Amino acid sequence: MPTLPRARGPLSAALLADLRGEAPLPVGHAVDAPRPGPAGSGDEELALWVLYELHHHGFDNAVEPPDGPDGTDHEWRPDLLSLRGRLERRLEQRWRERVAAADLPALPVGGDPRELTRAFFALCEADTGAESVARFVQREADRDQLDEVLRQRSIYHVKEQDAAMWTLPRLPDTTKAHLMTIAADEYGNGRPDDLHAALWARGMVACGLDASYAAHVDTALPAVLEQNNLMTLLGLHRRLVPAALGHLAAFEVTSAVPSRRVVRGMERLGVPEPMVAYYREHMAADAVHEQVAVRDLVGSYVAEVPGSEAEVAFGAAVCLLAEAATATALLEHVRRGAGEAAVEPQDTEDVA
Ligand SMILES: [Fe+2]
Ligand SMILES: [Fe+2]
Repeated sequence: MPTLPRARGPLSAALLADLRGEAPLPVGHAVDAPRPGPAGSGDEELALWVLYELHHHGFDNAVEPPDGPDGTDHEWRPDLLSLRGRLERRLEQRWRERVAAADLPALPVGGDPRELTRAFFALCEADTGAESVARFVQREADRDQLDEVLRQRSIYHVKEQDAAMWTLPRLPDTTKAHLMTIAADEYGNGRPDDLHAALWARGMVACGLDASYAAHVDTALPAVLEQNNLMTLLGLHRRLVPAALGHLAAFEVTSAVPSRRVVRGMERLGVPEPMVAYYREHMAADAVHEQVAVRDLVGSYVAEVPGSEAEVAFGAAVCLLAEAATATALLEHVRRGAGEAAVEPQDTEDVA
């Protein structure tokens, strides 16, 4: 299990102090919780990431409430769920507006499945205006810059596809079967060593980087945390199931070609083979996954849930625009100097 990260502002400081058992959040009313620090501090993004992590692995050094009628564990504490809901509503609102403003191609409603597939691939080719991280790695990155890219990407890769799996029990049976086709590969087809997260961890170790779960959260860029939070947001809410599927499909469609670029960049830099192998695996696997995800997963869902096209498109747009935002922030960060910390984590005492 990971340990609690360092605070980045008043909200995350108050939340972390509560989880450490030091000082309770203003009791029972999340509206009384401190306002987040300024945009760019990562305070709000970190607070939501921590709240989401309570539903994944939790934290080694969190102090659970005492047993008893009022001792609900952190994962299901009403005040923390209320705070999470408030942060989620702000996050979703922000991204609804961002997607609307981007005006990406729409998906046809109630049409021929082949037309839906064609339109989905066209949507994924829409120009978001952002530079590609993969192209940067292929052509330009030095080894220090690449290592920082890997540390930032690790926030996602240690729990590949976990967020999308929250949707599984909420899917129509046909769609469930198609999700499991993809998930079987992501989770190693019954072989723990082949789990994509395990391939990633071996790559990180071979590169001399910390492979443990959430090891790099303290230096994760706010955009990286937000990208991660968006996946969990879409996965956790039944209302957002079509958006989660659109997100997953767009993620698969935009993976194989960039993975090939990363492989070329890593070969240029002489990166240890286990990390190259991770991306080589995704060149192959995601070329298959993208077809399953768009034709079968999204195709079957839209056929079973008429009228879901707009929400599928919303999820896909979130995927594309969140990657664009992450790429912009990440490239600016590594070009400025990969050796510098992504953020200046603050000691709790400074901000509590
Ligand atoms: Fe994967
Ligand atoms: Fe995949």
